Amino acid sequence: MTEKDNNSIITSLLLKWYGEKGRDLPWRETTDPYKIWISEIILQQTRVVQGRDYYFRFIGRFPNVESLAVAEEDEVLKLWQGLGYYTRARNVHAAAKQVMTTFNGIFPSTYPDIISLRGVGEYTAAAIASIAFNEPYAVVDGNVFRVISRLFGIALSIHTSEGKKIIREMAQSLLDPQDPGKYNQAVMDFGALVCTPAQPRCIDCVLQDYCTALAENRVGELPVNDRKIFIRNRYFHYFHIQHNDNTFLQKRNGSDIWKNLFEFPLIETPTPFDFTELEKTEPFRELFNGTSSLSVDHRLTIKHQLTHQTIHTHFYRIIIPGEIPYNPPKEIFKIENEQLPDYPVSRLTHKYLEII
Ligand code: ADE
Ligand code: SF4
Repeated sequence: MTEKDNNSIITSLLLKWYGEKGRDLPWRETTDPYKIWISEIILQQTRVVQGRDYYFRFIGRFPNVESLAVAEEDEVLKLWQGLGYYTRARNVHAAAKQVMTTFNGIFPSTYPDIISLRGVGEYTAAAIASIAFNEPYAVVDGNVFRVISRLFGIALSIHTSEGKKIIREMAQSLLDPQDPGKYNQAVMDFGALVCTPAQPRCIDCVLQDYCTALAENRVGELPVNDRKIFIRNRYFHYFHIQHNDNTFLQKRNGSDIWKNLFEFPLIETPTPFDFTELEKTEPFRELFNGTSSLSVDHRLTIKHQLTHQTIHTHFYRIIIPGEIPYNPPKEIFKIENEQLPDYPVSRLTHKYLEII
């Protein structure tokens, strides 16, 4: 059997499996590229179950690219809250504006135009081009990488350019040019439901006769996932200040994480600091300048994991008696406690607010 025959059998078995066992997902009932784009961006950061709710909320509020383009950034971020990776929300917003200006409000229909949109990379461009426009571009996400490296016994790391290149070529050679969108979603579903990271269901897998990893007993070793990244530790101390019925916030800026999100006044230290040490620092004195009678009435420690950073966090709820005047530094502004839910915040702060 030639490689081509072998591949076309695999493709037709995958499509047959997908016809019987593929998931009913809300965005599969549309060919609207805008909705497919939004669903794909959401699914890059969450599982299908949770993604569904975000998708409906987002599409409900912004049913088309124009409504998103004219929205305020704060509202877009607020809808995104909890999903993490806020750069993506800002990119989605910027890309919607780009569609209005560069493409006269019509979502682009070719791969090169689609990939020119802000925040749209190879994966998302291939997904939109194939699902919405039947363009023959194979997607490679984590699911596809896993399925293909097992099927063909390819021991290249997902974090190398060679690994990505080879797997992309294999994915492209499996693609069904008649229905590339269906093929792409079939492989992704297959990876999510059958050829899963832990305990794949090889026993009733429709591809078991064609699977190199299974034949060579290497399923557990594939895909290779070596990664040499440096994870940075950071130490955050947040002050949830209570003064009468008010609390205080600041907006993050610069090029650090969580740009444009809101948070409580923050002191970051280079190493772990306890409260007594913190009180002696210059930033602490600046933050509470002239306010001697504060007390800590609640403290909470949360370790928050980001892709390249571990944020070791203390939240301190600080009570300043109402009769004592409190004037924070100028970047910090006062709000009423009940306005707090209106502000888009990081997942970390959201977690804290849910707990207290
Ligand atoms: N994961 C991300 N996008 C997907 C899609 N369209 N189908 C299945 N799984 C996915
Ligand atoms: Fe994946 Fe197992 Fe099927 Fe091979 S036999 S494709 S490893 S589920």
